[in-house]
Amino acid sequence: MRTILITGATSGLGRFLARRLAAPGVRVIVHGRDPARLRETVAEVTELGGQAEGVLADLSGLRAVEAMADELVERFDRLDALVNNAGIGYGRPGAGRQESEDGVELRFAVNYLAGFHLTRRLLPLLRVGAPARVVNVASAGQHPVDFDDPMLIRGYSARRAYGQSKLAQIMFTFDLAEELAGEGVRVNALHPATLMDTGMVGEAGIAPVSSLEEGGAATLRLVNDLGGVTGRYFDGSRDSRADPQAYDPKARARLRALSDELVRAALG
Ligand SMILES: NC(=O)c1ccc[n+]([C@@H]2O[C@H](COP(=O)([O-])OP(=O)(O)OC[C@H]3O[C@@H](n4cnc5c(N)ncnc54)[C@H](OP(=O)(O)O)[C@@H]3O)[C@@H](O)[C@H]2O)c1
Repeated sequence: MRTILITGATSGLGRFLARRLAAPGVRVIVHGRDPARLRETVAEVTELGGQAEGVLADLSGLRAVEAMADELVERFDRLDALVNNAGIGYGRPGAGRQESEDGVELRFAVNYLAGFHLTRRLLPLLRVGAPARVVNVASAGQHPVDFDDPMLIRGYSARRAYGQSKLAQIMFTFDLAEELAGEGVRVNALHPATLMDTGMVGEAGIAPVSSLEEGGAATLRLVNDLGGVTGRYFDGSRDSRADPQAYDPKARARLRALSDELVRAALG
Protein backbone atom coordinates (compact mmCIF):
# COMPACT_ATOMS: atom_id res chain seq x y z
CA MET A 1 0.00 0.00 0.00
CA ARG A 2 1.31 3.49 -0.88
CA THR A 3 2.60 4.80 2.45
CA ILE A 4 3.30 8.48 3.10
CA LEU A 5 4.68 10.00 6.29
CA ILE A 6 4.03 13.66 7.03
CA THR A 7 5.71 15.28 10.01
CA GLY A 8 3.89 18.10 11.78
CA ALA A 9 0.61 16.84 10.36
CA THR A 10 -1.66 17.99 13.18
CA SER A 11 -1.97 21.60 12.00
CA GLY A 12 -1.31 24.03 9.16
CA LEU A 13 0.22 22.75 5.94
CA GLY A 14 0.87 19.23 7.30
CA ARG A 15 -2.76 18.72 8.24
CA PHE A 16 -3.89 20.08 4.88
CA LEU A 17 -1.59 17.59 3.13
CA ALA A 18 -2.76 14.66 5.25
CA ARG A 19 -6.39 15.44 4.40
CA ARG A 20 -5.65 15.87 0.69
CA LEU A 21 -3.73 12.61 0.52
CA ALA A 22 -6.60 10.63 2.08
CA ALA A 23 -7.68 8.14 -0.59
CA PRO A 24 -8.32 4.43 -0.96
CA GLY A 25 -5.03 2.59 -1.38
CA VAL A 26 -3.06 5.26 0.47
CA ARG A 27 -1.84 4.95 4.04
CA VAL A 28 -1.01 8.31 5.60
CA ILE A 29 1.27 8.21 8.61
CA VAL A 30 0.33 11.29 10.57
CA HIS A 31 3.03 12.60 12.88
CA GLY A 32 2.20 14.93 15.77
CA ARG A 33 3.40 15.89 19.23
CA ASP A 34 0.02 16.31 20.91
CA PRO A 35 -1.92 13.08 21.54
CA ALA A 36 -5.40 14.63 21.31
CA ARG A 37 -4.72 16.51 18.06
CA LEU A 38 -3.02 13.43 16.66
CA ARG A 39 -6.14 11.29 17.33
CA GLU A 40 -8.31 14.01 15.80
CA THR A 41 -6.21 14.21 12.59
CA VAL A 42 -6.06 10.42 12.21
CA ALA A 43 -9.88 10.33 12.54
CA GLU A 44 -10.26 13.11 9.94
CA VAL A 45 -8.10 11.32 7.37
CA THR A 46 -9.96 8.06 8.00
CA GLU A 47 -13.33 9.79 7.57
CA LEU A 48 -12.13 11.18 4.26
CA GLY A 49 -11.63 7.64 2.97
CA GLY A 50 -7.95 7.12 3.61
CA GLN A 51 -6.13 4.82 5.94
CA ALA A 52 -4.30 6.72 8.68
CA GLU A 53 -1.87 5.77 11.41
CA GLY A 54 -0.54 8.11 14.06
CA VAL A 55 2.98 8.48 15.40
CA LEU A 56 3.70 10.68 18.39
CA ALA A 57 7.02 12.47 18.97
CA ASP A 58 8.35 15.84 20.04
CA LEU A 59 11.02 16.53 17.44
CA SER A 60 12.97 18.95 19.63
CA GLY A 61 15.04 16.10 21.10
CA LEU A 62 17.17 13.68 19.09
CA ARG A 63 16.36 10.80 21.43
CA ALA A 64 12.68 11.22 20.57
CA VAL A 65 13.55 11.38 16.86
CA GLU A 66 15.55 8.18 17.23
CA ALA A 67 12.69 6.47 19.08
CA MET A 68 10.23 7.60 16.40
CA ALA A 69 12.46 6.13 13.67
CA ASP A 70 12.74 2.84 15.60
CA GLU A 71 8.96 2.71 15.97
CA LEU A 72 8.37 3.39 12.26
CA VAL A 73 10.87 0.75 11.17
CA GLU A 74 9.11 -1.72 13.49
CA ARG A 75 5.55 -0.85 12.39
CA PHE A 76 5.95 -0.31 8.63
CA ASP A 77 7.71 -2.17 5.85
CA ARG A 78 7.95 0.63 3.29
CA LEU A 79 7.73 4.35 2.73
CA ASP A 80 6.76 5.80 -0.64
CA ALA A 81 7.11 9.38 0.51
CA LEU A 82 8.40 11.30 3.50
CA VAL A 83 7.40 14.94 3.92
CA ASN A 84 9.62 16.74 6.42
CA ASN A 85 7.18 19.52 7.23
CA ALA A 86 7.25 20.06 11.03
CA GLY A 87 8.78 23.36 11.96
CA ILE A 88 8.84 26.43 14.16
CA GLY A 89 8.52 29.92 12.71
CA TYR A 90 9.75 33.24 14.09
CA GLY A 91 7.82 32.76 17.32
CA ARG A 92 6.21 35.59 19.23
CA PRO A 93 7.67 39.03 18.53
CA GLY A 94 10.53 39.72 20.95
CA ALA A 95 11.04 36.08 22.02
CA GLY A 96 14.71 35.24 22.66
CA ARG A 97 17.07 32.43 21.73
CA GLN A 98 16.06 28.92 22.83
CA GLU A 99 17.86 25.59 22.89
CA SER A 100 16.66 22.02 22.52
CA GLU A 101 17.22 19.47 25.26
CA ASP A 102 20.41 18.52 23.38
CA GLY A 103 21.73 22.07 23.68
CA VAL A 104 21.15 22.80 19.98
CA GLU A 105 19.66 26.14 18.89
CA LEU A 106 15.96 25.29 18.76
CA ARG A 107 15.04 26.15 15.16
CA PHE A 108 18.15 24.37 13.87
CA ALA A 109 17.13 21.35 16.00
CA VAL A 110 13.46 21.09 15.03
CA ASN A 111 13.40 22.49 11.49
CA TYR A 112 16.58 20.86 10.23
CA LEU A 113 18.41 18.38 12.48
CA ALA A 114 15.33 16.29 13.36
CA GLY A 115 14.53 15.82 9.65
CA PHE A 116 18.18 15.14 8.84
CA HIS A 117 18.33 12.31 11.37
CA LEU A 118 14.83 10.95 10.77
CA THR A 119 15.34 10.77 7.00
CA ARG A 120 18.68 9.01 7.31
CA ARG A 121 17.20 6.48 9.73
CA LEU A 122 14.25 5.84 7.39
CA LEU A 123 16.33 5.29 4.24
CA PRO A 124 15.85 1.49 4.38
CA LEU A 125 12.05 1.97 4.23
CA LEU A 126 12.36 4.55 1.42
CA ARG A 127 14.57 2.19 -0.58
CA VAL A 128 11.86 -0.48 -0.34
CA GLY A 129 9.34 2.13 -1.59
CA ALA A 130 11.51 3.23 -4.54
CA PRO A 131 10.66 5.09 -6.66
CA ALA A 132 10.16 7.07 -3.46
CA ARG A 133 10.15 10.78 -2.57
CA VAL A 134 11.57 12.90 0.19
CA VAL A 135 10.07 16.39 0.26
CA ASN A 136 11.71 18.92 2.56
CA VAL A 137 9.40 21.82 3.30
CA ALA A 138 11.90 24.68 3.48
CA SER A 139 11.31 28.36 2.81
CA ALA A 140 12.34 31.33 0.69
CA GLY A 141 13.42 32.87 4.00
CA GLN A 142 17.05 31.63 3.97
CA HIS A 143 20.20 32.78 5.74
CA PRO A 144 23.73 31.37 5.26
CA VAL A 145 25.06 29.25 8.11
CA ASP A 146 27.99 30.90 9.93
CA PHE A 147 30.10 27.85 10.73
CA ASP A 148 32.00 29.84 13.37
CA ASP A 149 28.73 30.36 15.23
CA PRO A 150 26.12 27.91 13.93
CA MET A 151 24.26 27.84 17.24
CA LEU A 152 23.87 31.63 17.02
CA ILE A 153 25.35 32.38 20.42
CA ARG A 154 26.19 35.84 19.04
CA GLY A 155 23.94 37.87 16.79
CA TYR A 156 20.78 35.84 17.39
CA SER A 157 17.53 36.79 15.77
CA ALA A 158 14.56 34.51 15.23
CA ARG A 159 14.50 35.35 11.52
CA ARG A 160 18.16 34.44 11.15
CA ALA A 161 17.67 31.22 13.15
CA TYR A 162 14.68 30.29 11.00
CA GLY A 163 16.53 31.24 7.79
CA GLN A 164 19.65 29.20 8.54
CA SER A 165 17.57 26.16 9.52
CA LYS A 166 15.67 26.41 6.22
CA LEU A 167 18.86 26.78 4.15
CA ALA A 168 20.32 23.80 6.04
CA GLN A 169 17.29 21.75 4.93
CA ILE A 170 18.01 22.72 1.31
CA MET A 171 21.73 21.89 1.64
CA PHE A 172 20.76 18.50 3.06
CA THR A 173 18.33 18.02 0.15
CA PHE A 174 21.09 18.55 -2.43
CA ASP A 175 23.50 16.26 -0.57
CA LEU A 176 21.04 13.43 -0.10
CA ALA A 177 19.81 13.61 -3.70
CA GLU A 178 23.41 13.21 -4.84
CA GLU A 179 24.01 10.33 -2.43
CA LEU A 180 20.87 8.49 -3.55
CA ALA A 181 21.22 9.15 -7.29
CA GLY A 182 20.40 5.95 -9.12
CA GLU A 183 18.64 4.39 -6.13
CA GLY A 184 15.18 5.66 -7.06
CA VAL A 185 14.77 7.89 -3.99
CA ARG A 186 14.14 11.47 -5.18
CA VAL A 187 14.83 14.32 -2.81
CA ASN A 188 13.56 17.86 -3.34
CA ALA A 189 12.92 20.97 -1.26
CA LEU A 190 10.48 23.81 -1.66
CA HIS A 191 9.16 27.10 -0.44
CA PRO A 192 5.46 26.14 -0.43
CA ALA A 193 3.98 29.65 -0.57
CA THR A 194 4.56 33.01 1.10
CA LEU A 195 2.89 33.65 4.45
CA MET A 196 0.13 31.07 4.39
CA ASP A 197 -2.56 31.32 7.01
CA THR A 198 -1.07 28.88 9.55
CA GLY A 199 -0.15 28.72 13.23
CA MET A 200 3.41 30.00 12.86
CA VAL A 201 2.40 33.01 10.79
CA GLY A 202 -0.36 33.91 13.26
CA GLU A 203 1.99 33.49 16.23
CA ALA A 204 4.48 35.93 14.69
CA GLY A 205 1.69 38.49 14.30
CA ILE A 206 2.07 38.65 10.50
CA ALA A 207 -0.89 38.99 8.15
CA PRO A 208 -1.20 35.99 5.80
CA VAL A 209 -0.95 36.66 2.07
CA SER A 210 -1.44 33.23 0.55
CA SER A 211 -3.65 30.23 1.05
CA LEU A 212 -2.95 26.71 2.23
CA GLU A 213 -4.45 25.59 -1.05
CA GLU A 214 -1.56 27.28 -2.90
CA GLY A 215 1.28 25.90 -0.72
CA GLY A 216 -0.47 22.55 -0.48
CA ALA A 217 -0.70 22.17 -4.27
CA ALA A 218 3.01 22.97 -4.71
CA THR A 219 3.95 20.43 -2.02
CA LEU A 220 1.63 17.72 -3.36
CA ARG A 221 3.19 18.15 -6.80
CA LEU A 222 6.54 17.07 -5.31
CA VAL A 223 4.90 14.15 -3.48
CA ASN A 224 2.86 12.85 -6.41
CA ASP A 225 4.27 14.12 -9.72
CA LEU A 226 7.54 15.16 -11.36
CA GLY A 227 8.88 11.67 -12.14
CA GLY A 228 12.63 11.43 -11.71
CA VAL A 229 13.29 15.06 -10.72
CA THR A 230 15.71 15.15 -7.78
CA GLY A 231 18.06 17.54 -6.00
CA ARG A 232 16.03 20.66 -6.83
CA TYR A 233 14.68 23.61 -4.88
CA PHE A 234 11.28 24.94 -5.92
CA ASP A 235 9.65 28.27 -5.14
CA GLY A 236 6.03 27.11 -5.22
CA SER A 237 5.94 25.09 -8.41
CA ARG A 238 8.78 27.05 -10.09
CA ASP A 239 12.21 25.38 -10.28
CA SER A 240 14.31 27.98 -8.50
CA ARG A 241 17.70 28.96 -7.00
CA ALA A 242 18.34 28.81 -3.28
CA ASP A 243 20.86 30.97 -1.38
CA PRO A 244 24.34 30.56 -3.00
CA GLN A 245 25.69 28.72 0.06
CA ALA A 246 23.57 25.70 -0.92
CA TYR A 247 25.67 25.29 -4.08
CA ASP A 248 29.00 25.36 -2.23
CA PRO A 249 30.18 21.74 -1.75
CA LYS A 250 32.57 22.80 1.06
CA ALA A 251 29.75 24.42 3.02
CA ARG A 252 27.60 21.33 2.54
CA ALA A 253 30.45 19.11 3.76
CA ARG A 254 30.83 21.32 6.86
CA LEU A 255 27.12 21.11 7.54
CA ARG A 256 27.19 17.33 7.17
CA ALA A 257 30.12 17.05 9.58
CA LEU A 258 28.45 19.38 12.09
CA SER A 259 25.17 17.45 11.88
CA ASP A 260 26.86 14.07 12.37
CA GLU A 261 28.74 15.49 15.34
CA LEU A 262 25.56 16.87 16.95
CA VAL A 263 23.75 13.56 16.45
CA ARG A 264 26.72 11.64 17.92
CA ALA A 265 26.91 13.99 20.90
CA ALA A 266 23.19 13.52 21.62
CA LEU A 267 22.89 9.78 20.99
CA GLY A 268 26.38 8.53 21.68
N1 LIG B 1 3.24 29.36 6.71
C1 LIG B 1 4.03 29.76 5.75
O1 LIG B 1 3.76 30.77 5.08
C2 LIG B 1 5.28 29.01 5.38
C3 LIG B 1 6.12 29.53 4.40
C4 LIG B 1 7.29 28.86 4.06
C5 LIG B 1 7.55 27.64 4.67
N2 LIG B 1 6.71 27.16 5.63
C6 LIG B 1 7.06 25.88 6.27
O2 LIG B 1 5.93 25.03 6.24
C7 LIG B 1 6.05 24.07 7.30
C8 LIG B 1 4.72 23.94 8.01
O3 LIG B 1 4.46 25.13 8.73
P1 LIG B 1 3.01 25.77 8.87
O4 LIG B 1 3.06 27.04 8.13
O5 LIG B 1 1.96 24.76 8.52
O6 LIG B 1 2.98 26.14 10.42
P2 LIG B 1 2.22 25.49 11.67
O7 LIG B 1 0.76 25.52 11.45
O8 LIG B 1 2.78 26.22 12.83
O9 LIG B 1 2.69 23.98 11.64
C9 LIG B 1 3.94 23.57 12.13
C10 LIG B 1 3.86 22.09 12.46
O10 LIG B 1 5.11 21.67 13.05
C11 LIG B 1 4.82 21.01 14.26
N3 LIG B 1 5.90 21.16 15.25
C12 LIG B 1 6.45 22.32 15.70
N4 LIG B 1 7.36 22.06 16.66
C13 LIG B 1 7.40 20.71 16.80
C14 LIG B 1 8.12 19.84 17.65
N5 LIG B 1 9.00 20.28 18.56
N6 LIG B 1 7.89 18.52 17.55
C15 LIG B 1 6.99 18.04 16.66
N7 LIG B 1 6.27 18.82 15.84
C16 LIG B 1 6.47 20.14 15.92
C17 LIG B 1 3.54 21.63 14.77
O11 LIG B 1 2.91 20.78 15.72
P3 LIG B 1 1.56 21.22 16.49
O12 LIG B 1 0.44 20.88 15.55
O13 LIG B 1 1.59 20.38 17.72
O14 LIG B 1 1.69 22.69 16.77
C18 LIG B 1 2.76 21.79 13.48
O15 LIG B 1 2.11 20.60 13.13
C19 LIG B 1 7.20 24.55 8.18
O16 LIG B 1 8.35 23.77 7.92
C20 LIG B 1 7.41 25.97 7.72
O17 LIG B 1 8.73 26.43 7.95
C21 LIG B 1 5.59 27.81 5.99
